[in-house]
Amino acid sequence: MIFLKDITLHNGVKIPAIGLGTFRAKENDAYAATLHALKVGYRHIDTAAIYDNEEEVGRAIKDSNVPRDEIFVTSKLWNTEQGYESAKAAYQASLDRLGLDYLDLYLIHWPKTYEKAAATWKAFEELYEAKKVRAIGVSNFLFHHIEHLLETAKIVPMVNQVETHLFVQNNKLYDFCMGLGIYLEGYAPLASHEIEKLLANETLQAMAVAKGCTIPQIALKYQLDRDIIIIPKSKTPARIEENLNISDISFTEEERETLAGLNNGRKFFPDPDNIAF
Ligand SMILES: NC(=O)c1ccc[n+]([C@@H]2O[C@H](COP(=O)([O-])OP(=O)(O)OC[C@H]3O[C@@H](n4cnc5c(N)ncnc54)[C@H](OP(=O)(O)O)[C@@H]3O)[C@@H](O)[C@H]2O)c1
Repeated sequence: MIFLKDITLHNGVKIPAIGLGTFRAKENDAYAATLHALKVGYRHIDTAAIYDNEEEVGRAIKDSNVPRDEIFVTSKLWNTEQGYESAKAAYQASLDRLGLDYLDLYLIHWPKTYEKAAATWKAFEELYEAKKVRAIGVSNFLFHHIEHLLETAKIVPMVNQVETHLFVQNNKLYDFCMGLGIYLEGYAPLASHEIEKLLANETLQAMAVAKGCTIPQIALKYQLDRDIIIIPKSKTPARIEENLNISDISFTEEERETLAGLNNGRKFFPDPDNIAF
């Protein structure tokens, strides 16, 4: 059964709670995965300028014949393009590569300095106010980055996309963001390049057998039940379908506590305060 839950952002825009991630999906993989995802019911695709696949994603969107207004498309501004003028130019460049005339969501990919983020955000606000993008947000922003951004922002970000999975559940950041009306979007919801750690977890193995589903499905549904937007990536058709078909999975209170207990804070992506790129 296809799962099509929407989440309503603070400006009223609806985002499908499950999207297809496309990090490390290059060339034909990005094209084929996007096309397959749209064919089987995904209506949300997550890309970024740095993924070097916006052209392929855009081509798949076009070839899918799904009406543009039924697809939620996110892209992200790369770090070197932060700044007022450069952000506006980068936005147009992403649109051109995607072959689209608007994005549904545009994110600042990583925080750099507070000053750069403020200037970039001003450009994002103007793009939003000019109706060139339906929602704007940030990614990899910690508490202090958000606090500083809000000192000069006119518009509160609609989402913060951060590494979130069973081992990094981000409870405090979740409460902080949700308190401000900022939805958390969980990237690497399957632990990304460390997915083997998820698949080898004996607690999850036992739970998957007991429930008659897979470990990725458990990992995804648990986060979805917390109202976290998730963007699992796969280039494999059967997995793309598996990751969407999770609506029938439910957890007892005890199972939920077990899953909450897997949170050990072990990140697989860089600390946003110490990035070397
Ligand atoms: N904002 C940021 O800084 C940031 C950083 C990282 C990621 N992201 C976004 O978040 C998305 C998701 O993160 P991610 O791609 O790093 O990792 P992920 O979605 O947690 O995991 C992807 C890995 O899991 C495998 N996989 C997917 N479904 C599976 C299943 N049902 N069974 C077994 N294996 C499965 C994939 O393999 P195959 O592809 O070979 O099937 C791939 O190796 C990205 O694609 C990107 O859009 C954002």
